[in-house]
Amino acid sequence: MSRSHRTSHHEPDTAVELNPLFSRPGESTIFPRFTLPDGESLPATAYQVVHDEAMLDGNSRLNLATFVGTWMETEASTLYAETFDKNMIDKDEYPQTALIETRCWRMLADLWNSPDPGKSIGTSTIGSSEACMLGGLALKRRWQHARREAGKPTDNPNLVLSSAVQVCWEKFCNYWEVEPRFVPVSAEHPVLDGHDLDKYVDENTIGVVAILGVTYTGRYEPVELISEALDEIQARRGLDVPIHVDGASGAMVAPFLQPETVWDFRLPRVASINTSGHKYGLVYPGLGWVVWRDAEALPEDLIFHVSYLGGDMPTFALNFSRPGAQVLLQYYLFLRLGFAGYRSVQATSRDVALYLSSEIGDMDAFTLWSDGSDIPVFAWQLTEGYTDNWNLKHLSERLRMNGWLVPAYPLPDGLGEVTVQRIVVRNGFTRDLASSFLADLTKAVEYLDSLTSPMPADKQPEGFHH
Ligand SMILES: Cc1ncc(COP(=O)(O)O)c(C=O)c1O
Repeated sequence: MSRSHRTSHHEPDTAVELNPLFSRPGESTIFPRFTLPDGESLPATAYQVVHDEAMLDGNSRLNLATFVGTWMETEASTLYAETFDKNMIDKDEYPQTALIETRCWRMLADLWNSPDPGKSIGTSTIGSSEACMLGGLALKRRWQHARREAGKPTDNPNLVLSSAVQVCWEKFCNYWEVEPRFVPVSAEHPVLDGHDLDKYVDENTIGVVAILGVTYTGRYEPVELISEALDEIQARRGLDVPIHVDGASGAMVAPFLQPETVWDFRLPRVASINTSGHKYGLVYPGLGWVVWRDAEALPEDLIFHVSYLGGDMPTFALNFSRPGAQVLLQYYLFLRLGFAGYRSVQATSRDVALYLSSEIGDMDAFTLWSDGSDIPVFAWQLTEGYTDNWNLKHLSERLRMNGWLVPAYPLPDGLGEVTVQRIVVRNGFTRDLASSFLADLTKAVEYLDSLTSPMPADKQPEGFHH
């Protein structure tokens, strides 16, 4: 999220001062901002300074921009506090955490209809970004093997994806030198739907990314249609192109709310799927998952072997050390909620999203882009011709005055001239809070509508990063 009105890069080089109430005799009451203090301070003092600064971040429950979990039960917090010392990579020292990690991804393989979850392979990651990198790397390596076997060059891999992909895929292509072939979104094809795929796919295509829950609008890409388009390409041109499903949000929503939608391992072309445990998996930040259909989808030469209980534990990850506690929190939730519990939590979020989107869609000022019926995320634009006096960024600023963080940003290439505003409804954003939000939104619009001349539109903040 961009915080241009208070960015850290432009902090003054003045000292951090302590409220005199907390100072103790002989203790420093000011701390240098950018150099290590000369001496020690008491734990209570250091705590208070950091606590007070963190308070300025705002209230995470009013953050309607983030997809990431901001609320868990007391028992989860207790478990978190008991386990935050565990390092996920220390499988030898924490064998039970390692076993629990495996149980979790096996459950996900099953939830995502793997034909044989016992043959699937998975891992936890720090988030979907790392999970997508791993999914992309497996696609690339698999393609390289096939090309080498066929005696063909491997120097020009490409990946086909919508222009609305999350930035982690641009990173993947940049870091691992894969040419991104973006299919632009348009008014007729607001998501990647298989249309025109023929023009983008060739013998150097390592795979196609399908997004289950586009970050900008919350809409599902129809993985089944994309798969059918690739079947048709294979029949005609002999190219067998696998799909990675980026289900950062949707892979933890669709199984519960849209079980009839075929998007997962039921489609033979789907090689791998990722999700964020910390989004609709409902865990605090720091957890992602990726599962491959079977060993063929994850080339053996990408796997490293660490010693585990005197045996061998295969791992595939970008990091070495990382927290293990989030994995335990995920397992807690799987036990605590089960299928019915997840369905009920996600259904409640969807109900709130549908309520909000229908109220917002009824306002003259706004035209909906999506209504929250896929993942509980929806976006709207300012109705064409409604006003020249204000735009959605002004509205976003106005809502901030009540503590609400509701980003406004341009849609991706192909629809870049359209600015939308988006709400992510998460567990903990109740109907009650939604009603308070609507009251504040209505007031903000009334205020902006009452202006008799245009709000300044230059130097507006850049918007939110995804
Ligand atoms: C579709 C999609 N993919 C990947 C990501 C990156 O996920 P993470 O923040 O877990 O790294 C996001 C985050 O919003 C996303 O929406």
